Amino acid sequence: MAAEHASVHTPERAPIDTEVTPVPDVDEALVETVTDLAPGRALDLGCGRGQNAIWLARQGWTVGGVDISPAAIDESRDVAAAFDVDALFEVQDVTSWRPRYRYDLVLSTFALPAKGAGRSRMLDMAREAVAPGGTIIIRELDISLGRDGWMSERYLVSTDELERVFDGFRIDRKAVRITRHAIGTDERVLPVATFVATRRTDLRSL
Ligand SMILES: C[S@@+](CC[C@H](N)C(=O)[O-])C[C@H]1O[C@@H](n2cnc3c(N)ncnc32)[C@H](O)[C@@H]1O
Repeated sequence: MAAEHASVHTPERAPIDTEVTPVPDVDEALVETVTDLAPGRALDLGCGRGQNAIWLARQGWTVGGVDISPAAIDESRDVAAAFDVDALFEVQDVTSWRPRYRYDLVLSTFALPAKGAGRSRMLDMAREAVAPGGTIIIRELDISLGRDGWMSERYLVSTDELERVFDGFRIDRKAVRITRHAIGTDERVLPVATFVATRRTDLRSL
């Protein structure tokens, strides 16, 4: 198949051409949050095609990305190679995997497992993976979509659920906003929950 032109966007949304299949835009909440952070070690859970991890690496972060899909990881590695970016992408199931390090930034965008034991294990792992002073960013379709019967609540999240899991963290952002969101090749206007929190450096949250 002929390679298509694709773009990974900078915060200014300037496209950068690369000879790989198209990848989605970099997450806007990630871009906003990272503006205030010094680069460190970052982990993208359910990284998909790697656009967020690669963007972070280009901002000077040391980045790891995991995804259960070998095809997604292959594609992430291809895009990283096209940008000459050093990022470590691994096939892993976030419901059972345990990272070796703690991270200054842990990210999950539209990749939470369905509600239940798998989600609980993943969120506990994500919580433990955040270093003292580090940041967690979670974005997911909001629970209100379930009330409209548009989608099963199992696949949605409420910011209150996340606040309970990240008890003891400082909440930096907890919001639900109607946002343009890509689902496959479709674009819908949907309520998206954004949760950003920082692990305190005092003993309570270590
Ligand atoms: C909707 S995509 C989002 C990808 C990316 N985070 C983004 O924002 O574009 C969800 C991703 O989660 C991955 N995923 C689903 N279940 C997973 C699991 N148990 N462990 C790791 N990755 C998983 C899928 O393979 C897919 O790449």
